[in-house]
Amino acid sequence: MRTIQIPPATVRILPDTKALARAGADAITLAARQAIAARGVFTIALSGGSTPKAVFELLAHDHTAGNCGVKWEQVHLFFGDERCVPKDHPDSNYRMASETLLSKVPIPASQVCRIQTELGEAAAARRCAEDLRAACQPGAGELPHLDLILLGMGSDGHTASLFPDTAALDEQNAWVVANWVPMLSTHRITFTYPLINAAREVMFIAGGADKTTMLRNVLRGDPSGRTYPSQKVRPTAGTLTWLVDEPAAMLL
Ligand code: 6PG
Repeated sequence: MRTIQIPPATVRILPDTKALARAGADAITLAARQAIAARGVFTIALSGGSTPKAVFELLAHDHTAGNCGVKWEQVHLFFGDERCVPKDHPDSNYRMASETLLSKVPIPASQVCRIQTELGEAAAARRCAEDLRAACQPGAGELPHLDLILLGMGSDGHTASLFPDTAALDEQNAWVVANWVPMLSTHRITFTYPLINAAREVMFIAGGADKTTMLRNVLRGDPSGRTYPSQKVRPTAGTLTWLVDEPAAMLL
């Protein structure tokens, strides 16, 4: 592994997909240990898509193998975004996390805050925000400071469900919103920049040659000057880490 600093980010470059997943699982385990030692609880938001699947599988394996991993009984878990589908739909981020991880570790069901898409997109966003308030108990007018927010990056530079040219990019107050995504002709439920940037740690996990150009654009700047949603993730006081593999990092 090699590490480069591209302020404000620390970029850790792993040789391949397998090493990337291992590094992701180890980073989550370390963050959990530190949070639980400091505050007795670990609050994490999972990313969706395909990249984190191998990370979640490793976390489940670490638990099953007794590798002294995460103390799941002390974890409160959220989802950084969700598709507007039922929880058992193949596209559901909750379903993917449930199948690969949540069904295999002893996290109390009451501490898994699924985005309840069956309520309808606006109500689901409100309910997610209520769950965040209950778990994090921020002060009046304060933002919740999650210990770790995992994010992925699409080849168009989106993150969570903050897609280019969508309304959620401009949200400065709500923590969670329903975002109409014209390119997908659907709403998505997503964390907003205020909530993401209030985290103690934000960690992108992105790999593969299909991310190479966009990773360069996001971390080094697009030669055309265009900007991308992933670039507005800049934690106010927390840390920003990118875990990437060599194919994705080829232009850095
Ligand atoms: C989602 C994700 C999304 C994802 C990126 C990368 O719900 O799809 O939250 O932001 O992280 O699209 O997805 P891959 O890991 O599949 O490339």
